[in-house]
Amino acid sequence: MFPETLWTEDLILRPIALGDTGAIFDEYAQDPEVTRYLTWAPHTSVRETEDYISRCMASETSRTYTLLGRRDRQLRGALTIRRDVPGRIGFGYVLSRRSWNQGLMSEALTEVVAWSMKQRDVWRVGATCDVDNVASARVMEKAGLLREGLLKRWMVHPNVEDTPRDCWIFARAR
Ligand SMILES: CC(C)(COP(=O)(O)OP(=O)(O)OC[C@H]1O[C@@H](n2cnc3c(N)ncnc32)[C@H](O)[C@@H]1OP(=O)(O)O)[C@@H](O)C(=O)NCCC(=O)NCCS
Repeated sequence: MFPETLWTEDLILRPIALGDTGAIFDEYAQDPEVTRYLTWAPHTSVRETEDYISRCMASETSRTYTLLGRRDRQLRGALTIRRDVPGRIGFGYVLSRRSWNQGLMSEALTEVVAWSMKQRDVWRVGATCDVDNVASARVMEKAGLLREGLLKRWMVHPNVEDTPRDCWIFARAR
C-alpha cells in the first residue's frame, strides 16, 4: 500500500521514527517561517514533536517519511503519502529552511508521483497549497502536476489567519 523506502539522487525517504524527534524539533518544527502555510503551529516543546511522530506512526491511511541526505544522512524534512480515498493519493511535505531552494522537494515529489502512477489502483495524485505558497506550487509544477484551479476559502492556515484561505489544487491523473 505504501513504499517502504524511496531513493532519489540526493535523498533517502524512510519511514519516520521516534528517534527522529530531536532532529525534527531542532531542524524545523519550531520554525515559524517553515510552518507558516501548514495546518499546525510551530512546536514549543520536544513533547509536541514526539506526539506528532506517534500520530504519524499510528495512521493506517497515511505513511510519513523522513527525508535524509543520501550522502550525509542528515535530516532534511518529511513527506507524508495519504491514501484516505480509494483510487487517490495525496501528500504533504516540509523541509528545514537550510535545505530550501536546492531542488530537494521537487526531486522527492517527482519520485512519489512516479511511484503513485505505477500503482494499479491509483488514478489520481495531488494536493493543495495556500495561494501565497509560491515555492510549494512550483514544486508541484516541477513534479509534473497540473494546476487544476483555485479553491476559494478552502483551508485554514492558522499561522496566517484564522479563516479559510484560498488554495491552489494540483494533480496528475491517468
Ligand atoms: C515548499 C518547500 C517544501 C519547497 O521545497 P524546496 O526543496 O525548497 O523546493 P525546490 O527547491 O524543489 O523548488 C522550489 C521552487 O520554488 C521557487 N521559489 C521558492 N521561493 C520562491 C518565491 N518566494 N517566489 C518565487 N519562486 C520561489 C524556487 O526558485 C524553485 O523554482 P525553480 O527551480 O523553478 O527556480 C519548502 O519551501 C518548505 O518546506 N516550505 C515550508 C513548508 C511548506 O510550505 N510545505 C508545503 C505545504 S503545501
